[in-house]
Amino acid sequence: MADVGLPVDEVYEPPARVREGALVADMETYREMYRRSVEDRDAFWREMAERFLTFSKPFDRVVEEDLYTGKIAWFIGGKLNASVQCLDRHLAARGDKTAILWEGDEPGTNRRVTYRELSEMVNRLANALRRRGVRKGDRVAIYMGMVPELAAAMLACARIGAIHSVIFGGFSPRSIRDRIDDSTCKAVITQDEGRRGGRAVPLKANVDEALAEPGHSVEFCIVYRHTGTPVNMVAGRDEWWHDAVANEPAECPPEQMDSEDPLFILYTSGSTGKPKGVLHTHAGYLLHVMCSHKYVFDIREDDIYCCAADVGWITGHSYIVYGPLGNGSTTVMFESIPTYPDAGRYWDMVDRLGITVFYTAPTAIRAIAREGNEHVTKYRRTSLRVLGTVGEPINPEAWRWYFNVVGEGRCSIVDTYWQTETGGHMISGLAGATPMKPGSGSLPFFGVQPCVVDEEGRELEGNGVTGRLCMKASWPGMMRTVYGDHDRFVQTYLTTYPGKYFTGDGCHRDKDGYYWITGRVDDVLNVSGHRLGTAEIEGALVGHPAVAEAAVVGYPHDIKGTGIYAYVMLKAGYTASDELAKELRDAVRREISAIATPDRIQFVEGLPKTRSGKIMRRILRKIAEGEPENVGDVTTLADPAVVRDIIEGVGRAR
Ligand code: WTA
Repeated sequence: MADVGLPVDEVYEPPARVREGALVADMETYREMYRRSVEDRDAFWREMAERFLTFSKPFDRVVEEDLYTGKIAWFIGGKLNASVQCLDRHLAARGDKTAILWEGDEPGTNRRVTYRELSEMVNRLANALRRRGVRKGDRVAIYMGMVPELAAAMLACARIGAIHSVIFGGFSPRSIRDRIDDSTCKAVITQDEGRRGGRAVPLKANVDEALAEPGHSVEFCIVYRHTGTPVNMVAGRDEWWHDAVANEPAECPPEQMDSEDPLFILYTSGSTGKPKGVLHTHAGYLLHVMCSHKYVFDIREDDIYCCAADVGWITGHSYIVYGPLGNGSTTVMFESIPTYPDAGRYWDMVDRLGITVFYTAPTAIRAIAREGNEHVTKYRRTSLRVLGTVGEPINPEAWRWYFNVVGEGRCSIVDTYWQTETGGHMISGLAGATPMKPGSGSLPFFGVQPCVVDEEGRELEGNGVTGRLCMKASWPGMMRTVYGDHDRFVQTYLTTYPGKYFTGDGCHRDKDGYYWITGRVDDVLNVSGHRLGTAEIEGALVGHPAVAEAAVVGYPHDIKGTGIYAYVMLKAGYTASDELAKELRDAVRREISAIATPDRIQFVEGLPKTRSGKIMRRILRKIAEGEPENVGDVTTLADPAVVRDIIEGVGRAR
């Protein structure tokens, strides 16, 4: 939409009922806490760590960081275990409280898992994993749907010090295998089948296909039975979850983890190459997600909190599992999609479950907003107090709809800007305190020190500046490395602007110091809130025998935010056809995932290249955006005529 990221001159105060009783109820308190968090950083985070975490051995020092070499450590010398933080310490006071409130694919199919039940589930599975030889530091892949057992599997790994690597259930066998190989996973935890929007997701079959070729590191698979559909079980390798835990005790002594020991790896797309294994740790990550969950959403003891993301992405890791469970909240786990059976599903669920805090993505908001307000107004929604958004810039139009139609002006909206790499929220309002501007993430979270730099890396001081968003110092939830490739970590994030962490996003800081994210300035696409690298998609296209070269760019898309536009040059002897376009789409689905499927494919005779052979993406972007008049100077191209041909061919894109 045209107004994405442009500052609008509207300010909304948090409604009185949200401010009342809020943990941070006014801007003076926020400013004072923020000031302390950066000026007296050690003391601030020491205090937060002591308040939010329970260390079995206290830490000696708060932080040591070097943003040149990427050596970052928080709460040094401390010992703890993330699963203990999320389970054991709640048992005395909250044993019977619902930890996970599951809403299945069919409306009204619910399961309530108490903290005690979840703890038992986790301990039994942890024992089963240990018995099968999983040790501290081993990697375990988890490829499941949105069921409570997924959270249990993550926490079971954490309990025994294994590093989990959750793979989004929408990824193809090929992507699963790449991830398993990259971190040499010892085991896979999966389920028979997932359910999404009335359709089955063949999880176990995908794992079988991923492991079909020998030469992988997987010793065994544990399979959770969810739908009961018959699946192939490989003798000696696969075992049912219920059989594996049947005789295991409900207590499993947790591994004592160092603050800096890895908790998980999560693969994410970058500008180049294959997805990177972003690595997070036990103490810093957990503190950041608990603290931000608590303050940003202003979480209270009896909240029914619902993040409608998928656990396969960082949002689900941080704000369905670790943040809420760390804080002893009731977290809703939603197996379905926002439009099943119709566009009223979210609000139907809100009413039935009494949801008070609801967190989703702009792409979902846009998809249901266009179906009409009656899908919203037929539900009461009176339980709602805080609405959250994440994943991409929200256009002011969608923001206003969320605020006025869904929240009826009675709820605060928190627009939370962050990344897989940042672990938790970086820029966001606090529900009870921060005046809201539609489309702006607003102000930095505690301890976060953003800065705006120009292309040469010079910091732009003051307000009313536009440039690229960096961070001047580390924060507890910052990723520590790329699994198995520390150089890549340093190269990707810390080298572009030496001494600073570079987010890859453009941004504007307005006259009031509010941040407006303008989107990625690198070759990463945010498609329906899913993060994809153009290089990965190009790789999948070029893998097809007919394709000589491919260039992928993003373009504005009404629902997805960003759509995928692929320019494809065929090898001699092949001709463009709908058939071939379909084959290429299938190839992308097979290599990566359905989420990476190009929306438009344009067959071209040539790609615009500089004389040194570099593809000029800027030009391709302008054409895909429907602004061919703005392609700029093409005279430096090896063959300027290529551009005219491409512009003429736009109408034939398939
Ligand atoms: C984008 C998702 C604007 C941004 C948590 C970032 C956002 C990328 C917002 C990270 C927001 C996320 N406003 N843009 N509130 N939240 N982004 O790693 O471009 O899947 O770099 O993490 O999403 O995507 P990732």
